[in-house]
Amino acid sequence: MSNHKVAVFRKEHFNAAHRLYNPAWTDEQNREVFGKCSNPNYHGHNYDLEVRVAGVPDPRTGYVLDMKILSDIIGEYVLEPFDHKNLNLDTDYFKNLNPTAENIVVVIYDILRARIDQALDLRVRLYETERNFVEYPA
Ligand code: NI
Repeated sequence: MSNHKVAVFRKEHFNAAHRLYNPAWTDEQNREVFGKCSNPNYHGHNYDLEVRVAGVPDPRTGYVLDMKILSDIIGEYVLEPFDHKNLNLDTDYFKNLNPTAENIVVVIYDILRARIDQALDLRVRLYETERNFVEYPA
């Protein structure tokens, strides 16, 4: 029937703490650029994650991909390392990378891209607040 591409979405959620700062700058400079987000004692966000996968449904299953498998991949490789964690201190990804929403979404994309069929398109959207969100690829 179909060689039409379809996009499927999976929504997830995690809570995490972070601090935005550039180690090359003074605390004062960091405060000027990052404001409260540079609070040395960290602060938290309720992140909402949307993962979009697009491709032609497999004629054998009718699925673009098995959502259970997608959910398991996100759970194991994103939620497990990030949820209820301090992104700066508890993960290796942000040891030398400022954990802005922009950088977090690229990290999540790379994690998932390596584990999802390369024939499928992948797009990741990350909400840091209801009104502030980022998407990659742009
Ligand atoms: Ni923040």
